Amino acid sequence: MKKPNFIQENVSLAPLTILRLGGAARFYADIADESALLEALAFAQTQSLALLILGGGSNLVIADTGFAGLALRIKPRGIHQQSDAVVTVAAGEPWDEFVAHCVAHNWAGIETLSGIPGLVGGTPIQNVGAYGQEVSATIQTVRAYDRVAQRFVHLSHAECGFAYRQSIFNTTARERYIVWSVTFGLRVNGTATWHYPDLQKRFTTQPSLHEVRAAVLDIRRRKGMVIDEADSDTRSAGSFFKNPSLSVDEFAALNERAANIPHYPNANQFKVPAAWLIEQAGFPKGFTAGRVAISTKHSLALVNRGGATTAELIALMRQIQDGVEKRFGVRLQPEPIFVG
Ligand code: EPU
Repeated sequence: MKKPNFIQENVSLAPLTILRLGGAARFYADIADESALLEALAFAQTQSLALLILGGGSNLVIADTGFAGLALRIKPRGIHQQSDAVVTVAAGEPWDEFVAHCVAHNWAGIETLSGIPGLVGGTPIQNVGAYGQEVSATIQTVRAYDRVAQRFVHLSHAECGFAYRQSIFNTTARERYIVWSVTFGLRVNGTATWHYPDLQKRFTTQPSLHEVRAAVLDIRRRKGMVIDEADSDTRSAGSFFKNPSLSVDEFAALNERAANIPHYPNANQFKVPAAWLIEQAGFPKGFTAGRVAISTKHSLALVNRGGATTAELIALMRQIQDGVEKRFGVRLQPEPIFVG
């Protein structure tokens, strides 16, 4: 099959990621509609090319050697109202613009997820969560292209298999589906969520959706978690590590090694902040290793200070993992998706 004209060759992927790291894609295409997707997939199949779906590039670490397959960005945007507060949102819609839209309509359910970078299509994949909400609580269905069945399918909430930073899309069915749109059920005139400690500190009575959105944006900015193009200290992949969930025994073992460990009980498990473990293992905010560093504002965010390579970032990741494991016996698991 002849290469469709809209597929480009040797396109640098670094500018398409927040970390600005990594090499080029052998082939690259912006996908404008369903027929372009089918054409691109047919080309990938005839050439036996691996596929990479890029979202907003906010949770992606690409190898310095790049990606030898076909990288696609799903571009369609749009918020389509089905009924009261049930909306189907195209994968290419910027997530935070959708959150703002819901808050403006007084639809509750995703207000604490304000200020998160990336596109709507990426949110079900790692079940994005922050400040007391996860997208899985409002996602009703996901429409996706199924590369096995070779057709578009609707996946119910249950079929998505959501858990902490997890779904079938990043575990059992990794690479099988291409998310095309997501249907959310929000609560008309619903009350805002504000039980997360950082939010509780700021209000004494029930805040409005708008107030919670403004508070979350402010908290995130202070933690360097709202991307400011001009400030490399904010150009991170968000939390670089997941917060470990420990069993009762594992948590008891951890307590033998340190006192006053912050923790949050969570279904027979204890969730421990990775940021705390990192700091206590000797990696303070602003810890620098050449051109990569820990953000000066939050110890879970790794940043490219300018001109770094992916190899340098991975070396820092391993240094932190090893240091935390040596000090606490806990191996931190990275959160971003690694390519190549
Ligand atoms: N902490 C530190 N040092 C820091 C920051 C935090 O020691 O620099 C400790 C403190 O004990 C603090 C605790 O970590 O009380 C929790 O910190 P924070 O509220 O900032 O949350 P987090 O656990 O670091 C998680 C999510 C974030 C999400 C926030 C708010 C994960 C891996 N991260 O971070 O999600 O925004 O809670 O809900 O679950 C992301 O996944 O990319 C992400 C940014």
